Amino acid sequence: MSAYDAIADWYDGWAGSASLADDAVFAATAALMGDVEGRRVCDLACGQGRVARYFADRGARVTGVDLSAKLLEIARGHEAQHSERIDYRHDDARVLASCTDSEFDGVVCFMSLMDIADLQPTVRGVHRVLRTGGWFVFAVLHPCFNTSRSDELTTADGLVRTIGAYFVEGHWQSAKRTGPPGRVGAYHRTLSTYFNTLLAHGFELEAVAEPVAVGRQAELRPIWTEVPSALVVRCIKPRR
Ligand SMILES: C[S@@+](CC[C@H](N)C(=O)[O-])C[C@H]1O[C@@H](n2cnc3c(N)ncnc32)[C@H](O)[C@@H]1O
Repeated sequence: MSAYDAIADWYDGWAGSASLADDAVFAATAALMGDVEGRRVCDLACGQGRVARYFADRGARVTGVDLSAKLLEIARGHEAQHSERIDYRHDDARVLASCTDSEFDGVVCFMSLMDIADLQPTVRGVHRVLRTGGWFVFAVLHPCFNTSRSDELTTADGLVRTIGAYFVEGHWQSAKRTGPPGRVGAYHRTLSTYFNTLLAHGFELEAVAEPVAVGRQAELRPIWTEVPSALVVRCIKPRR
């Protein structure tokens, strides 16, 4: 059972209201994934499947995994309007019981790793299901600018983002947030926890991006043109 089961319809509307094509965080994620044509790609914590559909449209052989049965049902419903291209699996990212060793060329986890309660077993599982040389690309709420004590303050110089409690890891929720952190919360981890966990499980870091908001997002939330809302990471399971 995922906390998202209770908000699945709301999430479908929220995620579906914005185009991935206009999303700077998604553009950075897709750029770090590279060409997916013919690749076996796992969309980890796929939700209602918007990312899975995007990459299936670009020729990837996509498996979508999520803990929310309700969101998977919605994802299958979206897919039914097109063709049966995506293999959706109800599974826990911390276990990945439905996935075999070395099954995928790449794993993408878009704006979901901070929704998964335990990082270590998740990273261990991603490493297991990747073939040697395969990539893991993920985007998370930027840990430096999204914490239990992140807020905004109007000063004489304009709006600034304020941060506290960076070192306090774990679940947080804020009534001030209109997106998922307001509805179900998220799990905060420091940058060093993310990077050290990847390295401890045998990943090699290849690239990091901190996208600048553009277009409509920049108009709506200009603060995200001054500090990054998200962190995007690419690492690989190296050939040894
Ligand atoms: C913010 S949504 C993002 C969904 C999708 N990646 C997207 O961009 O629309 C986070 C997702 O993480 C899923 N999730 C949370 N914990 C999970 C777990 N342990 N295993 C698999 N999925 C999980 C939720 O069910 C939800 O679909």
